This record gives sequence, C-alpha cells and structure tokens, in this order.
Amino acid sequence: SYPSKVSIFEVGARDGLQNEKAVTTADKLALIDQLGEAGLTRIEAGSFVSPKWVPQMGDSGEIFRQLSKRPGVIYSALTPNLKGLELALDAGADEVAIFGAASQSFSQRNINCSIEESIERFIPVMEAAQAKQIPVRGYVSCVLGCPYEGEIQVEEVARVAEILYKMGCYEISLGDTIGVGTPLNARRMVEAVAQKVPVEKLALHFHDTYGQALANILACLETGVSVIDSSVAGLGGCPYAKGASGNLATEDLVYMLHGMGIDTGIDLNALIKAGNSISQALGRVSGAKVARALTE
Ligand code: HMG
Ligand code: MG
Repeated sequence: SYPSKVSIFEVGARDGLQNEKAVTTADKLALIDQLGEAGLTRIEAGSFVSPKWVPQMGDSGEIFRQLSKRPGVIYSALTPNLKGLELALDAGADEVAIFGAASQSFSQRNINCSIEESIERFIPVMEAAQAKQIPVRGYVSCVLGCPYEGEIQVEEVARVAEILYKMGCYEISLGDTIGVGTPLNARRMVEAVAQKVPVEKLALHFHDTYGQALANILACLETGVSVIDSSVAGLGGCPYAKGASGNLATEDLVYMLHGMGIDTGIDLNALIKAGNSISQALGRVSGAKVARALTE
C-alpha cells in the first residue's frame, strides 16, 4: 500500500544550481520565493562548502540573508564541517545537513576525506547544531552505485545510514547520486536500511540520469517511505559525479503522486511556473516532462 501523504524536500536551489554557471543571486532568490508560493515547505536553499570546490554556491550567505522567509517553510543548507555550520547559522539557516557516502572513493572526491574521517568531522557539527536546537539531516551518497567503485553493498549503505541516524540526524536521505538504480534493487536497498533506521526516518534522493527515478520511487513507496527529495525542472547533478543529471523533477513527482491520490500540499501549476522561470533564466527548456506537457 502507499502513503496517503508525501512530504517533498525540494533540492533544486542547491543540488540543481550547484551545477549551473549563469544563475544570479537574484534569480536564485526569485526561485526560492516561487517554490514557497507553490506550497513547498522544505526548501534546500544553499550550501556552505568551499567556494573553491563549488563556486556556484558561493553566494549562499547572501541567499539566506536576503530570502524572505515564509511562515511554515524550512530553509536548509548543506554544512560539511564546523566552518560550514557556523556560516550557515550566521546567515540564518533553519536546518542543516551533513553529507556522507557509502563509497570511500566518492567520499574522498566529494569531501576530501574517508568515510570514517567524515564521521569524525560530523560529530562537532552535530553537537554545535544541537546546542542551537537546529535540526540536522543526513545524506548518504552512492546508495545504488558509485561513479568510481561501481556496485555498492547494501550493508555498507545501512551501516553509514545507521551511524548518521544514531549520531542524531532526524532523517536520513538516501542518495542515488548517479541515478543507476532500478526498482527492485532500490526497494531491496531501502528494506535493508530500514532494518537499521526506522522507515519513517528515511527519505529518497534519486537522480534521474538513467530515467529510472520515478519508477524507483514508486517501488520504494511500497516500503512505507514518505519523504522524497526532488528538484524543480529536474535541475542539477553533482560536480563530483561526472555525467550525473539532476534529481527527479518535482513537477513529474507531484503529477504522479496526485494522480495516485497522494497528498503533497503543492500547487502543480504554481510549481510549473517556478520551474519554467528558472529554466528560462538558464536559457533552456524545463527538464520536467509534466512542465513541458502543460506549458503552451
Ligand atoms: P578541504 O580542502 O579538505 O578542507 O575541503 P580544509 O578544511 O582543509 O579547508 C581548505 C580550504 O577550504 C580553506 O580555505 C578553508 O577555509 C576552506 P583556504 O585557507 O585554502 O583559503 N573551507 C571552507 N570554506 C567555506 N565553507 C566551508 C569550508 N570548509 C573549508 N564549509 C570540504 C573539505 C568539505 C570543505 C571540501 O571538500 C568541499 O567544499 N567540498 C564540496 C563538496 C560539495 O559541495 N559537493 C556537492 C554537494 S554533495 C551532493 O551533491 C550529494 C547529495 O546531493 C546527495 C546525493 O545526490 O548523493 C547531497
Ligand atoms: Mg544529489
């Protein structure tokens, strides 16, 4: 059976735009505002990482300072270390996320340390966030495959997810970073992680590189997961995963869920408007099929 409600965690302004070049701070702010207008209540708005590594997120401080917060909306940021956390809190982020991986090679390329070292770095981030009552989300990358190592054991995914959960993350987002999963192995992976972390604490974060994300989500919804990360207009990729395309487009996800009678609280037309505006700013058509179908 399927959940009656799904909570959508919108990552377009971060995961999407971290891979784009020509987006101004004003365009990002307009996007974030339109996403709130469309009814999204969980918006990842930036990332406090090294600007040398990801220059596209270099204006995250300005973004958080300038965005007009809507009541009931949580604006969150990625924070890989204590320095990132301090910058995020200074700028007014409501929530932060630490991000680890189930692959050693990906961890090295993405955050320049091993899985074990990353956990060590996350401990003070968690402590400092908890002292300020800031919720911390945890990501695990490469849950269905790694661009450097290929297949990843589900036991390793479950191990890293459990560490982040026990450390105090309120939710664990399982990232198919390169979109290689297919429905049955995606569901098996979620079932394995759910042995270690309660299923209601899990989220799915599936990139759509191979066009499998919607099918994978449908298969995983049967396990009881009810939080899905997606990216408006299908924006994005990952700078440390060559060839990765964006997350599943939020418009396509919302269309499927509403068609199944699952509530999201999102106004699809307003969402399409948001996705079309940022696509226009990027000089391309929306990556969301539903947006293309419903736009004259
Ligand atoms: P490092 O070089 O090991 O760190 O990088 P360091 O502590 O040695 O510092 C080196 C320099 O970076 C110093 O500056 C620091 O001040 C600066 P310098 O003295 O050379 O001028 N620095 C920072 N500046 C701003 N904010 C910070 C920060 N920390 C250090 N927080 C680090 C380690 C993690 C910082 C680096 O590897 C990094 O920034 N990586 C970027 C990772 C990233 O953003 N990846 C994309 C997001 S993850 C993703 O997309 C996956 C996800 O979507 C899930 C999925 O799809 O699977 C979440
Ligand atoms: Mg991602």
